[in-house]
Amino acid sequence: NREAPDILSPEFAADPYPAYRVLRDDFPLLHHEATQSYVISRHEDVERAFKDPVFTTDNYDWQLEPVHGRTILQMSGREHAVRRALVAPAFRGNTLEQSFLPVIERNARELIDAFRGRGSADLVADFATRFPVNVIADMLGLDRADHDRFHRWYTAIIGFLGNLAQDPDVVEAGLRTRDEFAAYLLPIIRERRTAPGDDLLSTLCAAEIDGTRMSDEDIKAFCSLLLTAGGETTDKAITSLVHNLLRHPEQLAAVRADHTLIPRAFAETLRHTPPVHMIMRQAGEDVTIGGGLVPKGATLTCLIGAAGRDERRYADPDVFDIHRTDLSATTAFSAAADHLAFALGRHFCVGALLAKAEVEVGVGQLLDSLPDLAVEPGTEPREQGVYTRGLDALPVRFTPAG
Ligand code: HEM
Repeated sequence: NREAPDILSPEFAADPYPAYRVLRDDFPLLHHEATQSYVISRHEDVERAFKDPVFTTDNYDWQLEPVHGRTILQMSGREHAVRRALVAPAFRGNTLEQSFLPVIERNARELIDAFRGRGSADLVADFATRFPVNVIADMLGLDRADHDRFHRWYTAIIGFLGNLAQDPDVVEAGLRTRDEFAAYLLPIIRERRTAPGDDLLSTLCAAEIDGTRMSDEDIKAFCSLLLTAGGETTDKAITSLVHNLLRHPEQLAAVRADHTLIPRAFAETLRHTPPVHMIMRQAGEDVTIGGGLVPKGATLTCLIGAAGRDERRYADPDVFDIHRTDLSATTAFSAAADHLAFALGRHFCVGALLAKAEVEVGVGQLLDSLPDLAVEPGTEPREQGVYTRGLDALPVRFTPAG
């Protein structure tokens, strides 16, 4: 007769994993008063919520629309299928390899070169928050002198989306950023329509299915989504992965010796310490899940972080083990994934292969450039966040280069 955990309490934010276990064992479907939602935590239930089209993302609109406009994340049914088909080809493996691998390598190299002579760094501030955002800006074919501006916008938009307390200054900064971003990007989109290049923005302008194309507004909204969906997530994945390895020296040594293990380490990080812990769905009709009834129109809170630690699905789920056999690194970045960190079903992460390429290159270069990398003595990096979760800082030491 344990008490139901509160997913908005400070104890939960400090360490959600014990509460996840109580939820999975005793409250597989919990009605949470404060968020007015039904919480699910078992792997099989979260997987079903992602795969069964009765669960939609219609309830995202009020949160995302003010800052992004209308994006594929808010859409369902045919609208989603068409719009997703317009953008997805640009993120396929061979397109990425051919067009964008040099961009990814260059951005990792530049950021690491800026601190490798120092002997110390914060891998969050100096690398992870910058790297994926710079990559997206370069993929879109924007002026590289605008990287700092792009990073400022990124920070303001994720601040806006994570602003649970509705701090008015944060709201104001988010809305101002939305306007600045539109004023910056819309003229560039118009230019690319008349003078296309070999960049992602030109590809999005030209994409067409059965006569349907994206408007300038649609493209701007998608680019705004890319900043948050592709930035904060990859940022947290990289630092959680590096931190997991630093805490497991034998696994770190194995990955250093054989970089083809990086995708395994990434897949295990996505299961064990995923960047996105909690996402929402809306029940399109009365539906039974987690052993109880969720009424039509109700919000479902899907705990990805809890599903990854479900002992019904994974052996010793709290143990970080890149060699585990119940998780396949071969399918980890496809819609056949056996972890849930990229969701599954129709909203399965469009950028999963891009994230994999960024992590392979970024982590590979970090390990090669910083041979005796270690957590700064006396510091204890801590995870923060309830919806997205990761390290706010990862102070490290290493022998300076040159
Ligand atoms: C969707 C996670 C990297 C673009 C999603 C969803 C998750 C997710 C959980 C589903 C959201 C939902 O259904 O509510 C991640 C993680 C990443 C990552 C953990 C890194 C480790 C990226 C990257 C990009 C990207 C690099 C592109 C630059 C998107 C887009 C969607 C999406 C556009 C919406 C797909 C749709 O609605 O059909 N991602 N993502 N993501 N992601 Fe990612």
